[in-house]
Amino acid sequence: MKIPETVKRKVEAAIPLDRQVQAAHLYDKGRRWLTRTNGQKMFVERPIPPVEEVALEDIDLSNPFLYRQGRWASYFKRLRDEAPVHYQPHSPFGPFWSVTRHADIIAVDKNHEVFSAEPLIVIGAPPRFMDIAMFIAMDPPKHDVQRRAVQGVVAPKNLREMEGLIRERVRDVLDNLPVNEPFDWVSTVSIELTARMLATLLDFPFEQRHKLVEWSNLATSMEQANGGPSDNDELFRGMVGMARGLSALWHDKAARLAAGEEPGFDLITMLQRNESTKDLIKRPMEFAGNLILLIVGGNDTTRNSMSGGVLALNQFPDQFEKLKANPDLIPNMVSEIIRWQTPLAYMRRIAKTDTVLNGQFIRKGDKVVMWYASGNRDETVFERPDELIIDRPNARNHIAFGFGVHRCMGNRLAELQLRILWEEILPRFERIDVVGEPEYVQSNFVRGISKLMVELTPKG
Ligand code: HEM
Repeated sequence: MKIPETVKRKVEAAIPLDRQVQAAHLYDKGRRWLTRTNGQKMFVERPIPPVEEVALEDIDLSNPFLYRQGRWASYFKRLRDEAPVHYQPHSPFGPFWSVTRHADIIAVDKNHEVFSAEPLIVIGAPPRFMDIAMFIAMDPPKHDVQRRAVQGVVAPKNLREMEGLIRERVRDVLDNLPVNEPFDWVSTVSIELTARMLATLLDFPFEQRHKLVEWSNLATSMEQANGGPSDNDELFRGMVGMARGLSALWHDKAARLAAGEEPGFDLITMLQRNESTKDLIKRPMEFAGNLILLIVGGNDTTRNSMSGGVLALNQFPDQFEKLKANPDLIPNMVSEIIRWQTPLAYMRRIAKTDTVLNGQFIRKGDKVVMWYASGNRDETVFERPDELIIDRPNARNHIAFGFGVHRCMGNRLAELQLRILWEEILPRFERIDVVGEPEYVQSNFVRGISKLMVELTPKG
């Protein structure tokens, strides 16, 4: 029996978010026990063969190990050349289409009337137990209303307000780095800086900022996103903590504003002062969805661009020399780093009607995956696409931020953080040497670097 939407909302509003997560946990445990399944089929790590040895129809871009083992670029190239709109019927995530050329990806992303972002933007099936509502996975007009409510937090005026603070925090982190000895750039710089930024955006207690990182990691460690087994009990315990933490943040802010505190520029204040979202806390799934979206959206992505930039400049040392000779190239380099790294490999859509894309017939209901990581290596758009070229004239044509109504809301903020980072690195360090094999996260969605050992040489 389908429960009417209004009834569902009333029930949701009456039960605190953390209780709903606990109930969902019990439900999920019960279902797994009864069906003796995990809900999501798993991938098992095996060596990924060279792409020439694989039949076209067997190529499965959803395999997370393709990325961890570093084989992804050749697989994307083969599909761009031979089957740019490719069907994979047997993936553990279920059947899906892969769109790998730059122009086709833009065509899909721009056409929200045919290609819906609902109900989820990753390839896996949505979790059946929780109905978290995020506007990245909604279509207009609902999407537009929700996006409008929060986008002020990254409006140009707000970013100008934040620039000084971001710079101060970057300087503080860089000035305390060890020199002439190895350390992990990911945990010491990339994670630390993005956590500080998120704490600013949310006006979250600064000393507890590591919680934001933990919560963001929860969302991306779900089986739907990484294709591998995850500890579901731990995941749910983390989600209960997140639900409590975010609700407390909301109530604390409301009490401070009511007591006459000057309203700030943070996200919570914006939501509480906007007519359509001022009682968002009474719509717990929407409340959670909006906050998680900002936490996840602004975390893994910027973090991996910070790590990816260091890695890329090590692989292409002539570009680092070019940068040192001409620091004015930083803004263009930031776009080029984001193109080269493409922190989110794809977004998924579902066809709302039968349609034809680049000669392929796509049925209503089919999943369609736009592989930004491939579009950004499309040789018909970018010359020598696998290389980092910091003065590439069309670096800004990258599609790492997507296109159309869902185009990344935090793109300017991400660029600002990366620009400031490099502006502050250059006067301090002569060299940043990668001194060990980078380690990558297990995911087909987040193009993430989990460990990057480096050694810094300070300026003479
Ligand atoms: C949406 C990438 C940084 C918040 C997106 C999308 C992509 C993306 C691919 C979906 C676009 C589409 O479907 O067409 C990135 C990358 C970043 C980054 C590569 C960093 C280099 C940020 C930051 C924030 C953020 C710092 C936080 C303010 C969002 C939000 C959406 C979004 C809220 C949903 C927009 C919507 O549905 O209307 N991002 N992002 N992102 N991003 Fe980012």
